[in-house]
Amino acid sequence: MAKYIVQKSGPLHGEVEISGSKNAVLPIMAAALLAEGECEILEVPALRDVDVMCKLLSCIGSEVKEDYENGRIVIRTDQIIEEQAPYELVKRMRASILVMGPLLARTKKAKIALPGGCAIGARPIDLHLKGFQALGAEIEQGHGYVEARADKLKGGKVYLDFPSVGATENIMMAAALAEGNTIIENAAEEPEIVDLANFMNKMGAKVKGAGTDTIRIEGVSSLHGTRHTVIPDRIETGTFMVAAAITRGNVLLKNVVPDHVKPVIAKLIECGVSIEDSDEGIRVRGDLQPLISADIKTMPYPGFPTDMQPQFMALLTTVNGPSVVVETVFENRYMHVGELNRMGAEIKIEGRSSIIPGDRTLQGAQVICTDLRAGAAMVLAGLMAEGTTEISEIYHLERGYASFAHKFRTLGANLMKEED
Ligand code: EPZ
Repeated sequence: MAKYIVQKSGPLHGEVEISGSKNAVLPIMAAALLAEGECEILEVPALRDVDVMCKLLSCIGSEVKEDYENGRIVIRTDQIIEEQAPYELVKRMRASILVMGPLLARTKKAKIALPGGCAIGARPIDLHLKGFQALGAEIEQGHGYVEARADKLKGGKVYLDFPSVGATENIMMAAALAEGNTIIENAAEEPEIVDLANFMNKMGAKVKGAGTDTIRIEGVSSLHGTRHTVIPDRIETGTFMVAAAITRGNVLLKNVVPDHVKPVIAKLIECGVSIEDSDEGIRVRGDLQPLISADIKTMPYPGFPTDMQPQFMALLTTVNGPSVVVETVFENRYMHVGELNRMGAEIKIEGRSSIIPGDRTLQGAQVICTDLRAGAAMVLAGLMAEGTTEISEIYHLERGYASFAHKFRTLGANLMKEED
């Protein structure tokens, strides 16, 4: 298995271009199934997860043209030949579940392999199914698959017990072609939801309120193709901001939307990091004063993003003073704590909270990447640790960050990829 070899690196410096958002492009690719016509998607990040979604759409019947050199994908689905997402694809990417809503909308049936859990939690899909039922679908589960069927989809009202991003997206897509109006209450408000709604409205859908906790969808009879540019990845943005902070560097991030990373900016400023927003992008400096601790509590957007918790924890191990991190979104998103402790972080977990003593000089060690964002945290820790850090199972990382090692190396990181 390939691994990253990370040596202690001096302060990162220079500039980095942020790629298109993984968590925006995946639902948008699924939503292309709704269109009778061609959808051209731009600023698509070259990720393994995008490849898997391309394969899944092709299995379903889409004609997919991948033009990664130009960050472009063209999807055309004149006819759906298979209303299902097979296990071999779903097990590689749980976001495959996002084709369920569009398939239900377009063909009134969908059969998806149950995604199962992952390192960070059980990841149930009950809220997705509750939404489909509110639109009149019958749900059946068995042999590791879940099936939704409806004679017709009628607009309905659904209250999400938790503002689930995926459930909000799936229900929006299913409701787009339903008869009548749908209301999603306690909806997720993430920027990726807004980007999906913008894409759908350009296809002729009628989605209002995306970005708030109440989304209204007026069903229409059909949707047409369109062209759309995906928003920048706010989690990649946050990851490189923390990289500049943890190495006490000076980095300019380009192609960013500051509004999407407000909670991360606020916490970095609390730690003593300088953040300058200009027409060129966001300049992050961790070299102007000693960095101090800050407490973090992850929350649904616009709160501090759970996808930035592991990376920020790596930073907190190196600042002056103790911090407390509370993870409220996923029940098991502390797999990186054991790996950071192998490097000398001495973090203690108490239920949903982690206590980070801070003031640590981490030592390089052999560690593993337990999930996408935990892997990013290990790289950040390795940049500051004395000696060499070997990070294995980096396929998690490479499925979610475009040109990850290359971007870090251009900023001066001492990071090499060692193939098998
Ligand atoms: C999306 O996952 C993101 N993935 C995740 O990013 C992100 O961490 C998460 O939203 C939260 O922001 C994509 O967009 C592809 P949820 P999703 O449904 O939609 C519970 C990354 O690193 N829940 O908002 O699966 C669930 O168990 C990934 O890029 C239910 O109980 O997240 C969790 O505790 C990791 N029932 C909470 O809601 C449901 O039906 C949030 O899950 C659905 C979710």
